[in-house]
Parts: sequence; structure tokens; C-alpha cells
Amino acid sequence: MNDLAPLLTPEGRALLDAVRGTAPADELAVATRLRREHPAELVSAALGQARLRQRAAAKFGAEDAGRMFFTPNGVEQSTRASVASYRAARFRAQGVRSVADLCCGIGGDAIALARAGIRVLAVDRDPSTAAVARANADALGLADLIEVREADVTEVETAGCDAVFVDPARRGGRGRIFDPEAYSPPLSWAVQAARTASRAAALKVAPGIPHEAVPAEAEAEWISDGGDVKEAVLWFRTEPGAVRATLLPGPRTLLGRGLPDPRVRPVGRYLYEPDGAVIRAHLVAEVAEELDGGLIDPTIAYITADERHVTPYASAYEITDRLPFNVKKLKTLLREREVGILTVKKRGSAVEPEELRRKALPKQHGPNSATVFMTRVAGAPTMLVGHPV
Ligand SMILES: C[S@@+](CC[C@H](N)C(=O)[O-])C[C@H]1O[C@@H](n2cnc3c(N)ncnc32)[C@H](O)[C@@H]1O
Repeated sequence: MNDLAPLLTPEGRALLDAVRGTAPADELAVATRLRREHPAELVSAALGQARLRQRAAAKFGAEDAGRMFFTPNGVEQSTRASVASYRAARFRAQGVRSVADLCCGIGGDAIALARAGIRVLAVDRDPSTAAVARANADALGLADLIEVREADVTEVETAGCDAVFVDPARRGGRGRIFDPEAYSPPLSWAVQAARTASRAAALKVAPGIPHEAVPAEAEAEWISDGGDVKEAVLWFRTEPGAVRATLLPGPRTLLGRGLPDPRVRPVGRYLYEPDGAVIRAHLVAEVAEELDGGLIDPTIAYITADERHVTPYASAYEITDRLPFNVKKLKTLLREREVGILTVKKRGSAVEPEELRRKALPKQHGPNSATVFMTRVAGAPTMLVGHPV
């Protein structure tokens, strides 16, 4: 028996339907009404599940999330559908027909793999999490393809699968874990497991993983979705040493060519802000070359160029003004330009964007908008004002 079982009974399912989409403000009234006919514990469980489903909609879409089950940690740690299905497509392209999904959580990756037509052995040692993964495979009609096993991944035989995927837990009792050896299971165990896979293997790691921690035989891929970096993946049996940045939706993939650091040059008419995946993958030089640009400072990942080029790997801004760091001067400029909406971006500056907006925006809010980059140009704290192109 686990926490989920009562919700899978006919009464539990009816309650889940009854509380679907309940707004936080209405929860008390809904609970009071339902408790007249149902056990209080079951009503709370259904409301808790409804809340988790709402939270999960951002990752899984409202339709799937509305049919799935979650645990609070399971929602946080699961892979969003866009990233999971991109990864599943890569496995498919490698001819993979079956995957051992080691550390399956509530099944974010397992679901995407199964939808790509791949058989999945999904393993998690936490009983309630494994029960949720099983319920999700059922709820989405994927139970024929997903076998959920409640077990420690270090004790599971994976020889029957073409590929191994490991998504270790990266949160401990005291929050996020940065040291890959403190993951559960540790990265070194996951790398060993990857080596034993017959056809392919992938390990999901934190995007902040130091490049030195990537084994020489692995390819490292940083993935962003809608401009936000989501994760890094280490692929085995693809291209050892390769580095890529993949932007979703798309996908658009930039492959590293091992270029040296870009040159530093004076600020030109355009400023380009590389996508976070490009920065994490250390591929700013590849984008600078494409843009025929250089860096504004050797330590800052902003690219500048005189011409406008279109690239998916960086957002372009036209720079209209350059000021030394001085909030009063910025305020005067914004007043002259009748700016009422200010976007603050920063790199290499300790400025608090909210505070700067409060101090620099004129009282009389104008109709125009502007973007200010708080940064360093050749070592000097500088404000670059402009707008997206
Ligand atoms: C990051 S989550 C996996 C998320 C999953 N990929 C998804 O998209 O839903 C990590 C999971 O690893 C499980 N875990 C950690 N150590 C484990 C071990 N040694 N054996 C089995 N499961 C483990 C945790 O219970 C947790 O559910």
C-alpha cells in the first residue's frame, strides 16, 4: 500500500475529477463540501494532487498533467516533456529499441521514450515514486511499453536493454547538490553503467557541471528551452569529446569546433546575448565567428558587431548609448528618451535589476521601452542602452 493507492480507487478517481482545476482560494470551501461525503484524508490527497497537476502543467502541458500523478519532489525533479522527447528522438536515431531508465522518478523521461516507440525498464527505489511512475504509464496508455521496477539501480541487471539512461537525484536534505560525486547514485557509478550499455547511453547532469568532470569518451550537450538552460547530457558511443548546445523548441544544435577565445573589440552598433546553452557549452567563440563579432571584454559573454546577422544562438540588440556606470546619468537619458519600460540585463555587474529600475526610471513614465546592459567594457563598469532588434 502506498500514498497513491486510495486515489486510484473509483472513489479516489471521482474525487480527482471533482477537484480538477480548483483555484487555491476555493480549496477550503471545496474541501468542506466534499468532506461531508468522503474521508477527509482522501479529500486532502485529491486536492494535493490537483495542486501538483497544476504545477506540472508547465512541464507536461495541461492535458497530460491533468491525467498524470505526481509527488512534490517528483514534479521538481522530472524532465520537462520538450527536453525528454528531444532526448528520446536522439536515442531512436541511434537505433535504440529499449532503454533502462535508471532513476525514473515519476516517469518524465520514461513517458517520452515510450512515446518514441522505445521499450522502457523504469527503475526507482522510492516506493511512492515508483508507484506514481506506474500510475502514469497506465494513465497515458503506455503500460505495455513501460515496466516500472521498485529497486536500487545499483542492483538491477540492464544487459537486456540496448541503452542506459541515468538521471541521478541532485537534491539532498539540504537542497541542490553541486558535486557530481554527491549525486545519488554518484556520477562515477553512472559513467560505469553507461560503459556497459550495448548500443547507447546518456546521463543527465546539472548544467553547471565543470567541463573537466566530463569523461573523455563522452559527448557533452547543453540544452535550453525557450532560452532557459535546463540540463546537460553526457552521451556515450556518439562522438567522444564533442560539445554541443541545443536550443528547444527547434531543435537547433551548434557543434563546437574547439575555437580559441574570441578577440576583444570596441562596442559596435549591435550587441548579441548568447543563449545560456551556448555559454554553458563554452561555444561563444563559435557564435562570435558566425556574427563576425568580438567580445566587449575578455571575461564577459556579450558579443558585439557592426552588422546585424540573424542567428538562433544569440539575441540581437541595437545599442544607442554607452555610459560609464552612473545611475543619475542613466535616469537623465531615460527621461530624455521618454522611457517607461526598462529591461535590465547584467553580466559582470553586482547591480540589483529591481533596485536599478526603481532608481533610474523617471517618475513620469514615458511611452517608450529600452534595455540597459549593466556590464564591463574592457574592464570598466559600463551601461549600454539599446533595444532588441
Ligand atoms: C532526478 S529524479 C529522476 C527524474 C526522472 N528522470 C523524470 O523525468 O521524472 C531522480 C530519482 O532517482 C531516484 N534514486 C536516487 N538514487 C537511487 C538509487 N540508488 N536507486 C534507484 N533510484 C534512485 C530518486 O528516488 C529520484 O526519484
